[in-house]
Amino acid sequence: MRTDGYFIAFEGGDGAGKSTQVGRLADALRAVGREVVVTRQPGGTALGRSLRDLVLHGASMAPRAEVLLFAADKAQHVAEVVRPALAAGQVVVTDRYTDSSVAYQGAARDLGADAVHALQMWAVEDLVPDLTVVIDLPEGVGRARRGAVHDRLESEEDGFHASVRAHFVAMARGNPERYLLIDGLQTPEAIHASVAARLRSAGVLP
Ligand code: TYD
Repeated sequence: MRTDGYFIAFEGGDGAGKSTQVGRLADALRAVGREVVVTRQPGGTALGRSLRDLVLHGASMAPRAEVLLFAADKAQHVAEVVRPALAAGQVVVTDRYTDSSVAYQGAARDLGADAVHALQMWAVEDLVPDLTVVIDLPEGVGRARRGAVHDRLESEEDGFHASVRAHFVAMARGNPERYLLIDGLQTPEAIHASVAARLRSAGVLP
């Protein structure tokens, strides 16, 4: 069993069920004695919560301003929360990470996936998760599950969310060593079982 720091990110469209899975995984890890830090982007720090309000609920903004606000949130989050926890041997589970920006701002907002990826990597000083779980869901299903619109990104039309989805799937398929792609139409139990199986083979769960 590994006992060093381990970094897991959950990614996917809005309404994919990431938060439920983050909670279940944290419970499973704690049950075997691991120290777990559960966090999210945007918003995992005090500065991040202010940035979250601005970027999700503030006035409309230029796409480049939007991507820079998300990048600022990530820079603070990694410096203040993620790196110290990993250095202390904890497991960090984050609800969204850099791939959200690559998919939402890079692909769906048309700023260019490569440029946005480079900006994100600069912001987080190249900290890449050990495992990224992508929960894939048709955008119409995500919209129906979300019900009322809650923020600026969620209120984008289905074409935007279709690009986000396609980009997440392409990233996961392109690098199966570092990603786990899961069909989000499965039950929460089945999704959790896939995540747990992958972590058992990585030696993070017994
Ligand atoms: P999230 O916290 O998952 O929303 P909720 O609390 O409503 O479940 O994410 C907020 C939104 O921000 C979501 O629509 C995705 C978007 N987002 C980006 O566009 N870029 C980013 O880098 C991140 C982290 C999120």
